[in-house]
Amino acid sequence: MCGIVGYKGKNEACDLLIDALRRLEYRGYDSAGIAIWHKGKIEIGRKKGKVNELGKDVCNKEIFQGSMGLAHTRWATHGTPSEKNAHPHKAGDVVVVHNGIVENYMDLKERLRQDGHKFLSDTDTEVIPHLIMSHINKGMGFVDAVRAALAELKGSYAIGAIREKERIMVAAKKESPLIVGIGLGEYFIASDVPAILNRTNKVIFLEDNDIAVFKDGQLILMNIDGESVDRKVHEIHWSGAMAEKGGYKHFMLKEIFEQPRAISETLIGRIKEEKGQIEFDELKLPDLNTITKIWMVACGTSYHACMIGKQMIEANLRIPVETDVASEFRYRDPIIDKNHILILVSQSGETADTIAAMKEGKKNGAYTLCICNVLGSTLARDCDGVIFTHAGPEIGVASTKAFTTQISIFYLLMLHMGRKLGIMSGDEVRDFIGEIKRIPHKIQAILEQSSAMEELARRYMGYKDFLYLGRGINYPTVLEGALKLKEISYIHAEAYAAGEMKHGPIALIDENLPIVIVSPRDHTYKKTCSNVEEVITRRGKTLLFTDDMDHEMASKVEAIFAVPETIYELEPILAIVPLQLLAYYIANLLGTDVDQPRNLAKSVTVE
Ligand code: F6R
Repeated sequence: MCGIVGYKGKNEACDLLIDALRRLEYRGYDSAGIAIWHKGKIEIGRKKGKVNELGKDVCNKEIFQGSMGLAHTRWATHGTPSEKNAHPHKAGDVVVVHNGIVENYMDLKERLRQDGHKFLSDTDTEVIPHLIMSHINKGMGFVDAVRAALAELKGSYAIGAIREKERIMVAAKKESPLIVGIGLGEYFIASDVPAILNRTNKVIFLEDNDIAVFKDGQLILMNIDGESVDRKVHEIHWSGAMAEKGGYKHFMLKEIFEQPRAISETLIGRIKEEKGQIEFDELKLPDLNTITKIWMVACGTSYHACMIGKQMIEANLRIPVETDVASEFRYRDPIIDKNHILILVSQSGETADTIAAMKEGKKNGAYTLCICNVLGSTLARDCDGVIFTHAGPEIGVASTKAFTTQISIFYLLMLHMGRKLGIMSGDEVRDFIGEIKRIPHKIQAILEQSSAMEELARRYMGYKDFLYLGRGINYPTVLEGALKLKEISYIHAEAYAAGEMKHGPIALIDENLPIVIVSPRDHTYKKTCSNVEEVITRRGKTLLFTDDMDHEMASKVEAIFAVPETIYELEPILAIVPLQLLAYYIANLLGTDVDQPRNLAKSVTVE
């Protein structure tokens, strides 16, 4: 994963780079490093740990003054997190930061070693500056040497490279994201837009095999063969403030509280109430009457959204839908054909397995549609169709507002397709629209009860294991609730379809096991109430999330939380909010690093 940034302009680079790097920490945070060029010399600083550790160490030192530089925040793939493995890496006078994986690094390293190159780290990246240097040693200019080195790499890369002898910065990408930011008399490179939003909103999304050369105040774009290429400059409508905490203790809490706005913005412009229709700009789906199957493929939280999308579409449109996690889908030779639609869901649009799943779909002739939050991301660019969630930048590693906006898109898509197929009338669609328009207010009402969730968190934070139970459309809700608890509090949490409890997990139940149950009044309600009874009989601690506070169950459970009533399709979008809050408050009380939990990174750009 990793985040890279680079700067070339007239201002001091060090503070700018550290600031930008902090905004990329969601991509990795086990070590960080910086390189600053000044008058023909490059100073390098590297530290194990977070960007803050590095920041404290470098920018106040005179040697780190200069107006061109590179920086990197790492999520280790090859080589443990340590100072020697942190980027930038240097060979001769060439310095490189890299995001991606050089798959043939062992062969390259061996060859370079035989030619006398000495390696100091265990990383794959270190071969890149050595390769560049080997070409410079043969008489090539810097830019040509970078091109020649990249041509020898197998795998993925987004790189920034500088050298001591010239005031030139070079950037390039293949299968890892990289953008160029164009400021006033200054240029940036970054793995993602939020890193530089406070300096500029004009960006170029580099494409695979693009090389950007920053020289003499100019930007030159070429491909790996050295031929000039033209790329559009996009104006980004996200503001710098959207990528700040805005007074909240953590990004995750801010993002949970942003959900009413994020959902409203995802709906805006798409609902045509007078026509009883949903419209998506520029989306041209194939003729739906020819479609025999829909696939929904994603990872993690986005996969849970797919499980909800499946239930909505199958129940209302009667089109068969198969869901799969992208890491399985890509290797199981799925039976796909041209009459299938493959929906890829991804907040970042950069998840390696989801991108591979898209390629598998394309290879087999399916129409690929992505539901994505990031403009210019690989999936958004390469799928046949794209629907954006307008959640705004999601910085907290644990996904929250991306999930509820993805559910909103599935709901709109169901209505859009229902009308196109002639299955739903304008009046029916208007009824469905009426309910989703009420969702932001209902979530607001839940958020206003957040202190009750904090109280609940205080009562249950000491337990070591949790079981989550839900049925039907709320099975994915509890999977997502358990995932939130695991990833930020490090408490073991397991989610089960409530009906499966008797087939195994019931053996775990005793007075030391809190059981979170999501059970609104739908057609599965009575069945889940029986499961609650079974849990109580076995002294399990029951925490019930329901829209039925008057049921006799309310007096039997240990804790109960009211979730506003809604229609079946939208139950998860409400029920997940208190579960996000519960996980957040438990983690906060336990004092974990909520926004950057250990071992995780936000964009999983490697397999
Ligand atoms: C969980 C979480 C991850 C992501 C997963 C997919 O809170 O954030 O499980 O959902 O890595 O990421 P995207 O949606 O960017 O493809």
